[in-house]
Amino acid sequence: MSQPPIVLDVNGIEVIYNHVILVLKGVSLQVPEGGIVALLGGNGAGKTTTLRAISNLLKAERGEVTKGSIELRGERIENLSPADLVRRGVVQVMEGRHCFAHLTIEENLMTGSYTRTSKAEIEANLEKVYNYFPRLKTRRTSQAAYTSGGEQQMCAIGRALMTNPSIVLLDEPSMGLAPQIVDEVFHIVKDLNAKEKVTFLLAEQNTNMALKYADYGYIMESGRIVMDGKAHDLANNSDVKEFYLGVGGDGRKSFRDIKSYKRRKRWLA
Ligand SMILES: Nc1ncnc2c1ncn2[C@@H]1O[C@H](COP(=O)(O)OP(=O)(O)O)[C@@H](O)[C@H]1O
Ligand SMILES: [Mg+2]
Repeated sequence: MSQPPIVLDVNGIEVIYNHVILVLKGVSLQVPEGGIVALLGGNGAGKTTTLRAISNLLKAERGEVTKGSIELRGERIENLSPADLVRRGVVQVMEGRHCFAHLTIEENLMTGSYTRTSKAEIEANLEKVYNYFPRLKTRRTSQAAYTSGGEQQMCAIGRALMTNPSIVLLDEPSMGLAPQIVDEVFHIVKDLNAKEKVTFLLAEQNTNMALKYADYGYIMESGRIVMDGKAHDLANNSDVKEFYLGVGGDGRKSFRDIKSYKRRKRWLA
């Protein structure tokens, strides 16, 4: 079987905040058409920065890509505005569910159609979102502020879907949600992937959950990718298990510590 084409190709990017703080130190990753790729790593590893670099949302944070390249289906996109990227099918769902609290669920969803002009298309997109998220349909006239965390996360994803994306950058969808709701959200992601052919790059600290639904994963630490592989292989990899289960008396070790420790052990043996 031939490999699916690469939609998104991030090649050795560096990101600097405030002109001095080097946060991404040469990050490379690839997302194939129709895939679900997980970007894993602890708090502060650089996941959000990577997603923001792709969707060109770093400026507001005083960040900039200073090295490397980002290609969408073979075309450089580093200089496209976020709105142009949305028009080309790249949309980001922000960490922390940024719904407009004072708007209703439906009004929130409609804000996602700003790049669309056809009324019929907008209506059809709305129906599609309600079809995948029946909970949003029942809450359509509720103010977002009075809906649950899970409903707000669904609303944020639904709003992204209103742009008719081909690739969604999903930042920590599980954050602050009960496990059952996380499962529900990930199920819908899998469904959108299978039926609507939406490609996902999802940043997650919830490694187990993300690897359950992703095809491929990259593990980040301190602004670098330290490991990557098929989701199934990562989930069964002893280094990954050791790292995420935590070892020793002082809690979770650095992934690189474990690897260098193993290297030392081999060296001494
Ligand atoms: N606006 C900013 N200015 C300076 N440093 C930042 C900014 N945003 C994030 N950082 C730093 O960049 C690093 C990576 O952060 P982030 O990309 O948010 O990681 P993650 O999403 O994996 O938790 C952290 O050390 C964080 O403190
Ligand atoms: Mg983050």
